[in-house]
Amino acid sequence: MNTKKPVFDPRDLRNAFGSFGTGVTVVTSGNAQTRLVGVTANSFSSVSLDPPIVLWSLVKGSPSLDVFDQTERFVINILSLDQVHLSKRFSSTAVTNKFEGVDYTPGLGGLPVLADCVATLECKTTERLVVGDHILFLGLVEQYAYERKPTLLFCQGSYLQGAECSVA
Ligand SMILES: Cc1cc2nc3c(=O)[nH]c(=O)nc-3n(C[C@H](O)[C@H](O)[C@H](O)COP(=O)(O)O)c2cc1C
Repeated sequence: MNTKKPVFDPRDLRNAFGSFGTGVTVVTSGNAQTRLVGVTANSFSSVSLDPPIVLWSLVKGSPSLDVFDQTERFVINILSLDQVHLSKRFSSTAVTNKFEGVDYTPGLGGLPVLADCVATLECKTTERLVVGDHILFLGLVEQYAYERKPTLLFCQGSYLQGAECSVA
């Protein structure tokens, strides 16, 4: 494929991409042999039911990348409406120990599974692709749990809560 690279203003392009509303996840990894990492990510998407495959992407320069690579596992923690503080904590570069004061239990491979999430998906990395300025991780879901409670949403740069549409 030999297509010419378009030149866009990155801030403006980010605004356009951000028009697509999503949930909010904290993707965690690491164990006693490595160190724990957690990254707020809304690039999560479910891909396949059979086999159960999900994806998410991490910016190339992330200081957490080596742990995701070494561990070859990750946990998608889908945040509930009352977990905005976790989204802010795990997207901050100023917090030195992101897990301090955060409630979690060790899951498969000793990876941190955050408490009180709407859903948690424990995954084994099946593919890692370099795509532009991000690394795309695909993973097989080996264990999951969920609860029926309000999910935290994110759209156009703001945290939102969902409400059912009234259809005329
Ligand atoms: C709502 C939201 C969604 C985000 N989604 C992603 C994402 O999908 N991938 C990514 O690399 N960074 C994403 N970020 C930014 C990271 O959370 C942020 O850069 C964080 O510092 C990453 O952790 P690190 O410093 O350990 O890499 C998002 C931030 C917010 C607030």
